[in-house]
Amino acid sequence: MAPRGWGCWRWAAQPRARLLSPAAAPLGFRQLLSTVELVPHICVVGSGPAGFYTAQHLLKHHPQARVDIYEKQVVPFGLVRFGVAPDHPEVKNVINTFTQTAHSTRCAFRGNVTVGRDVSVSELRDAYHAVVLSYGAEDHRTLGIPGEELPGVLSARAFVGWYNGLPENHKLTPNLNCDTALILGQGNVALDVARILLTPIELLEKTDITADALRVLRQSQVKRVWIVGRRGPLQVAFTIKELREMIHLPRSQALLDPADFEGLEDLIKEAPRPRKRLTELLVQTALKPPKGEKADGKAEAPRAWGLRFLRSPLKVLPSPDGGRVAGIRLAVMKLEGSGENAQAVPTGAVEDVPCGLVWWFKSPSGVIATTMNDGFLTGQVLLQDLEEGVLPIGPKPGYSSIEPLLKNRGVQPVSFEDWEKLDAEEVAQGQAAGKPREKLVDPQQMLQLIGH
Ligand SMILES: Cc1cc2nc3c(=O)[nH]c(=O)nc-3n(C[C@H](O)[C@H](O)[C@H](O)COP(=O)(O)OP(=O)(O)OC[C@H]3O[C@@H](n4cnc5c(N)ncnc54)[C@H](O)[C@@H]3O)c2cc1C
Ligand SMILES: *[C@@H]1O[C@H](CO)[C@@H](O)[C@H](O)[C@H]1NC(C)=O
Repeated sequence: MAPRGWGCWRWAAQPRARLLSPAAAPLGFRQLLSTVELVPHICVVGSGPAGFYTAQHLLKHHPQARVDIYEKQVVPFGLVRFGVAPDHPEVKNVINTFTQTAHSTRCAFRGNVTVGRDVSVSELRDAYHAVVLSYGAEDHRTLGIPGEELPGVLSARAFVGWYNGLPENHKLTPNLNCDTALILGQGNVALDVARILLTPIELLEKTDITADALRVLRQSQVKRVWIVGRRGPLQVAFTIKELREMIHLPRSQALLDPADFEGLEDLIKEAPRPRKRLTELLVQTALKPPKGEKADGKAEAPRAWGLRFLRSPLKVLPSPDGGRVAGIRLAVMKLEGSGENAQAVPTGAVEDVPCGLVWWFKSPSGVIATTMNDGFLTGQVLLQDLEEGVLPIGPKPGYSSIEPLLKNRGVQPVSFEDWEKLDAEEVAQGQAAGKPREKLVDPQQMLQLIGH
């Protein structure tokens, strides 16, 4: 049986080669190779959901495959840990599945290793049969309008990283000493940010939001949050669950201009069901606000959030002393076309909105569930390639050849057992503070706990 493909290796339950004498004829020798070295070494870059779902599929469907997951952060799980909002703990349950995967004896987590800096992709390609790049999508670094360098202008991603304990955003400490914040973007991340700003502090205290963020949010003066979109109410990108959470936020009221919503119900008769239900809820909230007791004191609510449509940022306006943001100039847009594909074009009119904080979010869309399908598919294609002999045939050293490289370069990889020490400490500290966990953010403290 020539080792043309990986099929025979994959299904070989026993290393039959052990029965062969090393001095056997050439055919026997080839067979020895094909059966002794039947272990495919696969490298996954990034330990977010895409990386973990790919690893899960590979380990499940190939009885010998070994998977190393490289991660630039000290800790695993990517945006499940550093993106998903602290008041959505149920979304983070996927971590249990990822932990099971990491516990496989054929899987290893190699944290604190930045691919492209500490080790190159070509070095990984030499060491492994296949390298899967699942390192997520970096945020755009800039908003691209004048005034964006002013204090008080932040990327939503950095703000999210800050309240979620991402070490590189640890020192962000936004100044919440203003009454109005404005968020550019009308997706779920925008609503996450608005919700975190407006949620009563006693509710946030029960989440895994960092102690540092709690301290700043406790002093927050922010009373109003505008959520601004380039297009109209039929093009918003957030989903109904997140909208409902906004509508039900305690001690906050919705500021929706009825004129934005009149007549919308007629336009969505043919729309897909999710868009229809979302729009119905928006229309109902804008046009039929609860009256009397049901209003639940909302009209006197101390805080508010609102949606502004057909507005595109032109310029951040400075305070008189030029020291921070005082407002934003927005271009008034109109729609060309309709439905999901409608394009926003400038009308020529502008509007200035006073605000002490501006956030923006530009990043590819997608949710954890999409990464599951993509990860499983990637795993499947990779196994097919192995089977069909498309990938390198013959032995590969895997981590044993990368380890000395990292060592020479002074890189200290963190294992999954190391992470579990940090995890235990976070849970213990959290329990003491009455929350699910207190995320560690200080790299030095992490280093000490791991005992490197
Ligand atoms: C603020 C925010 C909130 C979200 N909330 C939700 C939600 O509630 N529900 C939901 O379903 N989805 C949510 N999402 C979307 C979800 O987080 C993503 O779809 C998902 O995390 C993408 O998975 P990924 O593995 O592709 O990327 P990531 O989760 O980004 O993982 C990529 C990993 O690769 C690592 N990496 C990057 N570069 C390197 C390198 N050079 N070397 C080694 N490692 C590297 C990163 O550190 C990271 O750990 C949210 C996204 C954001 C931004
Ligand atoms: C991570 O690696 C760097 C070197 O790249 C090292 O200085 C640091 O101590 C390591 N962190 C941990 C927690 O091991």
